[in-house]
This record gives sequence, C-alpha cells and structure tokens, in this order.
Amino acid sequence: MCHNAHVSALRTSLAGIDLHSPLIGAAGTAGYTTELSDAGALRSLGAVTSKSLTLHPREGNELPRVIPLRAGMLNAIGLANMGIDQFIAERAGDASAMPCRLFASVAGHCVDDFVQVAARLDRETEVPLIELNVSCPNTVDGRTFTADPSALNEMVSQVRAVVTRAKLFAKLPPDGDTVALAGGAVEAGVDGLTLCNTLPAMAIDVVSRRYKLANRRGGLSGPALHAVAVRVVHDVRCQVTQGRLPIIGLGGVVAWDDAAELILAGADAVGLGTILLADPSAPRRIRQGLESWLTSQGVESIASLVGQVGS
Ligand SMILES: Cc1cc2nc3c(=O)[nH]c(=O)nc-3n(C[C@H](O)[C@H](O)[C@H](O)COP(=O)(O)O)c2cc1C
Repeated sequence: MCHNAHVSALRTSLAGIDLHSPLIGAAGTAGYTTELSDAGALRSLGAVTSKSLTLHPREGNELPRVIPLRAGMLNAIGLANMGIDQFIAERAGDASAMPCRLFASVAGHCVDDFVQVAARLDRETEVPLIELNVSCPNTVDGRTFTADPSALNEMVSQVRAVVTRAKLFAKLPPDGDTVALAGGAVEAGVDGLTLCNTLPAMAIDVVSRRYKLANRRGGLSGPALHAVAVRVVHDVRCQVTQGRLPIIGLGGVVAWDDAAELILAGADAVGLGTILLADPSAPRRIRQGLESWLTSQGVESIASLVGQVGS
C-alpha cells in the first residue's frame, strides 16, 4: 500500500486517518475508485470518495441529467450506481493499489438500506471512512433524513450501531437548518461531517420553454455554491463542532484560494467535485497552491490554519 506519495506540509489527519493531502475527490465526481488515475490526479488527492452506493444497483434518472451553467453545473444523476454487491466484489479491492485512501459514500431509501450497506462496508478493512449521503436533492427520498434533526439522529444512531471499525461521516445539505442537522448527527455519534452537498435548483430552456433537466430539478454545484459552503462550514464549526470533530468542506472549489477559504472557515479537509469533471489537473494545481500558501503564511501544517478566520 502506498499512501505516502508526497511527504509535505499538507499531510493531515482526519478523525485519525492519515492523509498525505487534505484534498478529497467528492462523491459522484471521482468515479468509484481509480477512475482519476489516468490523469494522475490521484497522487495529489489524500482520498477519493466513491460514488454513493445503494443496496441494489440503480439506473438513475432519465437524460438529460447534467446541464452546464455559467457559474457551475446542475445535475440530477439520481444516484446511478452498480450497487454494493458489485462494488465489494469488483472494486473495493482497488484500494490497496491506490496512491490515496478510498472513502465510501452510502445512500438509501430507508434506515435499513443505510444500515445494511454501511455494515457491509465496515467489513472492508481498506475503507477507513463511510460517508452517509443524506442530502441528495435528485431523488424522491434523497433528503428524507434531513427533513428534521431527529429523523437524522435516529437513522445515524442505527448506522452507528453497526459501524464499529470505520469512521462515520454524515454529508449534509447547504440549505435548511444545517446547524441543527449537524447537531443531530453529532449527538447520534458521527466522527465528522461533510459540508456540503448540492443546492436544489432548476434551469429552463427559453426557446423550447421546457425544463432543461428531465427530472425538472437538480443540484447546483460549482462556483455558484462556494460562498454558501464557506458560510455553512463556518457556522457548523462555530456553533456545533468547535474543532472537536473534523469537517470535510466542499462546494465550488476551482482554485487553491477557494480551498484555503474553506480551511480558514473550519474545514480540516477539502473536497473537489465539479472541477474534477472539467479539469483533471486541478488536484495537482490546487495542492501546489496550498503548499505555497502555507509557506507564505509562515506555518508548518495545514491543521494550524483550520478555523483561523478573524475579523
Ligand atoms: C455529477 C455529480 C454527481 C454527484 N454525485 C454525488 C453522489 O453520488 N453522492 C454525493 O454524496 N454527492 C454527489 N455529488 C455532490 C458532490 O459530491 C459535491 O458535494 C457537490 O457537487 C459540491 O461540490 P462542488 O461544487 O465542488 O462540485 C455529485 C455532484 C455532481 C456534480
């Protein structure tokens, strides 16, 4: 296993998991495991998060399900994935040959779906972190558990009972009362939070006067989401975690200073999503920019900058 591709000041630890870089491939934008390796991006990432995995394979929503926007992208993929059985049989083993860690994202219709998929992944010792996607805006029930903090607390508690080895994170939406949801997840025993998923949105073709997405609604990602993500990470760290639990911050990162902003707001690690689809060289570029930033700030580790915003 080679998790030490770069020995640098960017080395960090997330809930006790050592990462050689604080940059993480976001769920749904980095394939299942090694898809980014062709472009060399994996060597600059500390981890890749798998596409969200469900108990049974899913085709996802009808096409069109991805629309480019001026300030980002709208997607309604609808959790298309191969299902947990095939992932474990054919892909989970890729982790041992990757130059970064493999995190696994889980989605489901009901509590039992989450419990079963998470329990399977907890037995895969090469997967150190399981992320619960409870914030998908593109399926009928993708946000059932973020409707209120007690629903989330109940679901996470049941998953927590079966996840005894891996670290457990909950990925929350940027809209609604994310601070209250984060409180519910923390109370139920998560090891960290991923902030945030896409923002429910819509696009209309003015010539045909039709919805651009077959699903009508989708999730907004990319630069348009960035300042929202900074606010969410900041507020959850100040009001809920207070540095006691780690946060993976993401939303609209396209350059190193976007990542730096999320770190100052309170993110211990930073996810890259939409940018990976447009520019596979982004992880390397952003990692180099962060290294220069550390030097210019006169600090030796990224951890000393987490949450260090002041007025
Ligand atoms: C095409 C696409 C597919 C996505 N699929 C998933 C997914 O399967 N699970 C998940 O938790 N998030 C998914 N996301 C959300 C991203 O992981 C990320 O939270 C969001 O896009 C914000 O980050 P970004 O602005 O850097 O893209 C997807 C995003 C996009 C653009």
